[in-house]
Amino acid sequence: MATTLTSAEEAGRCLATPAAYTDEARLHEALALLRRESPVRRVEADGYRPFWAVTRHADVLEIERDNALWLSAPRPVLRRAEVDAALEAHRARGDGLKTLVHTDDPEHRELRAIGADWFSPKAMRELQPRVRELARRYVDLLAEHGGRCDFVREVAAHYPLRVILSLLGLPESDFPLMLRLTQDLFGQDDDSRRRGGEEAAAHTSVLADLLGYFRELTAARRARPTGDLASAIANARVDGRPLSDADAASYYVIIATAGHDTTTSTIAGGLEALVRHPGELRRLREDPGLLASAAEEMIRWVSPVKAFMRTAAADTAVRGTPIRAGESVLLSYPSANRDEEVFDDPFRFDVGRTPNRHLAFGAGVHYCLGAGLARMEIQALFAELVPRLAEVGLDGEPAWLATTFVGGLKTLPIRYALR
Ligand code: HEM
Repeated sequence: MATTLTSAEEAGRCLATPAAYTDEARLHEALALLRRESPVRRVEADGYRPFWAVTRHADVLEIERDNALWLSAPRPVLRRAEVDAALEAHRARGDGLKTLVHTDDPEHRELRAIGADWFSPKAMRELQPRVRELARRYVDLLAEHGGRCDFVREVAAHYPLRVILSLLGLPESDFPLMLRLTQDLFGQDDDSRRRGGEEAAAHTSVLADLLGYFRELTAARRARPTGDLASAIANARVDGRPLSDADAASYYVIIATAGHDTTTSTIAGGLEALVRHPGELRRLREDPGLLASAAEEMIRWVSPVKAFMRTAAADTAVRGTPIRAGESVLLSYPSANRDEEVFDDPFRFDVGRTPNRHLAFGAGVHYCLGAGLARMEIQALFAELVPRLAEVGLDGEPAWLATTFVGGLKTLPIRYALR
């Protein structure tokens, strides 16, 4: 581990340092320091527009719930200033990303209604057999790897993408392309994943590829609807008008991306936690009734979404710190989910933790649309894996993705024996 942090100023800058998220111990040291000494902290970091870092559970929750004061537009995600500028330019031209996470009510409410039924409890019950079948297929695949593999590459990266792309209704032949494009989108801050060239240009080129692919999909589903989520998006009407090509494409992008790397990271990080806490793995094996609380604890533990942002609509204050209209706050989910005021022994991985009031899915009107799906996928995978895992251990050091947005383990080398 690198040197100890000396100040809240340095700790605050970690939140705008993608590499800081590759060293969990140091990151949590920084977040704990901020919670203790400076829970609402102005951060000025090279290459980023200034923002306020909010690290306490109560403050994150309060901001998330007040969707009139705290707006998602125009800055829902922390990006380098030049990427912000490039995305703004695209939006101004009408060919940029405009998704649920970029919009506020009433527009957000209308957009959310288009997809909501596809993620309802009823829809989840209908999807469950397919998810279980895929979970079984991926655990079977582990058996074919002869007792050693990179769990991220062989299982965690593919299974959630396959679920989400079948819900959208994309052909299996397009899965490799989608895997590459979604990983490219979230890998912009990581040297091993970024496309060549300047960061803003790389970002623009990934987006152009994604939007191009989905534009064709919209045209195809308008010509011939096929009863899948993609057809629902292509043929949706807002105020009596169809979505523009760019807005429809944005919708697919948010579903494909939000539904993928988040769950991938949780499944990989969840297995890593079980490997590092063999007593918890044993508990789960002996009591499958703990699956739901174990999945919830994995989601809290990993917190794969590192942050979303909100911008103040009016002058206000958080925990007594004045924040002016137009200034942005960064809501740190990994920090809220280790808050000592809310969680008993927050650094203990406990598959039976109840209650577990984590904020990994956010709160308020933007509360994760796919939370039910994510829970079902994680539970289905571990329901298949845990009983069959006779032995498991690390087979090398895992590596984390450099990111300030969505991510987790990018490799998890394991050795194992299956029953
Ligand atoms: C463990 C896995 C997941 C985590 C931790 C997660 C986390 C989040 C978070 C933090 C937000 C923003 C909430 C806010 O601003 O208050 C969000 C929004 C969203 N998530 Fe997830 N997510 C996960 C899986 C999924 C899945 C499987 C899907 C499926 C498509 C999905 C779709 C979405 C969508 C569409 C939104 C935007 C909702 C809105 O703005 O109204 N997520 N998610």
